[in-house]
Amino acid sequence: MARVDATNSPAANEGSAFGVYVHWPFCLSKCPYCDFNSHVRHAAVDEARFRRAFATEIAATGARAPGRTVSSIFLGGGTPSLMQPATVAAILDAVGRAWTVSADVEVTLEANPTSVEATRFRGYRAAGVNRVSLGVQALDDGALKRLGRTHTAQEALAAVAIARQVFERYSFDLIYAREDQTTDAWAAELRRAIAEAAEHLSLYQLTIELETPFAALRAAGKLTVPDEDCARALYDLTQEICAGAGLPAYEVSNHARPGAECRHNLVYWRMHEYAGIGPGAHGRLDIDGARHATATEKRPEAWLMRVESLGHGLVTDETLTREEIADEFLLMGLRLAEGIDPRRYAGIAGRGLDPRRLATLNQEGAIEITPDGRLRVTPAGFPVLDAVVADLAA
Ligand SMILES: C[S@@+](CC[C@H](N)C(=O)[O-])C[C@H]1O[C@@H](n2cnc3c(N)ncnc32)[C@H](O)[C@@H]1O
Ligand code: SF4
Repeated sequence: MARVDATNSPAANEGSAFGVYVHWPFCLSKCPYCDFNSHVRHAAVDEARFRRAFATEIAATGARAPGRTVSSIFLGGGTPSLMQPATVAAILDAVGRAWTVSADVEVTLEANPTSVEATRFRGYRAAGVNRVSLGVQALDDGALKRLGRTHTAQEALAAVAIARQVFERYSFDLIYAREDQTTDAWAAELRRAIAEAAEHLSLYQLTIELETPFAALRAAGKLTVPDEDCARALYDLTQEICAGAGLPAYEVSNHARPGAECRHNLVYWRMHEYAGIGPGAHGRLDIDGARHATATEKRPEAWLMRVESLGHGLVTDETLTREEIADEFLLMGLRLAEGIDPRRYAGIAGRGLDPRRLATLNQEGAIEITPDGRLRVTPAGFPVLDAVVADLAA
């Protein structure tokens, strides 16, 4: 087991941050590409019961990891915009009872961009949410239909307009490398999206996840996604257009004006501590000198029963070894354009990165050392990030 102290703590050297992730596991319908822990229920969800269980699990986590100052809270899903504002308020109150909350805390809620959900935005704002992330996915009605979305492009843009009026900060997601998508069509769609975006956009390449309806369709020859070269061209175009519009990638799929990055996601990528609350949530906590990887029961009703009987929904609570923490540090940190501090890696791993591997990857143009000594993946290295990380971690 690795001892975590002030010098080798995974969270050392990059300022302090503590995030709280809360998972709402329900959606109105299941999108055929999605393998997130999200479930459709035909009977009404007992929100009051969930509210109590969230508060219980937050209090239990606060007792295990006391004294932190919360810098970000992320209500993710599923579709958290199906929650009543009172549920969101109750969650935020419980976080405030368990920990100190920073005066400039970032509180993000993921929302589906339907008109019904947009009517709740003011209630979320009153509850304390100050940032929304909308799943727009596409600005083309045919594509939205094929993605199984229940909103039109116009409805999504109307929700973006309401978000702009209600919240200080907002972002939205698009999925690209969709079936039959040409570079010209994507360039036009992306430019239109940028005109609607303020400070942040998440642009995900469509991934065909195992055991989703999209995986079955592809296996049956009924769904053709762009081949590697075409996907690469779409990726390159994305970087070029966004950088040109002042929204460079600060992470593989995330673009922001400098200073407007999602602080909560930076908690993950910079390996700070975070609490995972709700069904199927993951956490990383430093307790008694060890880094703990936690996970809760995934199935919503089983999670409820566990919290009601045990006071928490944890099903996994492992202390990570030095090697595991160091691998995770590379895997997460090299996703960021800012890269990692190799001294922090050495503090965690107890040894530095292999200079020969570094030299080879540098000669290949996949990595570089910045003037202030950080190690980062180059634009040419990002499309082969997994191989770069595997090489450095070997
Ligand atoms: C957990 S979802 C939540 C957003 C919200 N439920 C919605 O759909 O509007 C987060 C984002 O992941 C992205 N995503 C989910 N599955 C994906 C896949 N298979 N390929 C690419 N992006 C995906 C979508 O852009 C989605 O908005
Ligand atoms: S993409 Fe969003 S709305 Fe669709 S199933 Fe996944 S979490 Fe639910």
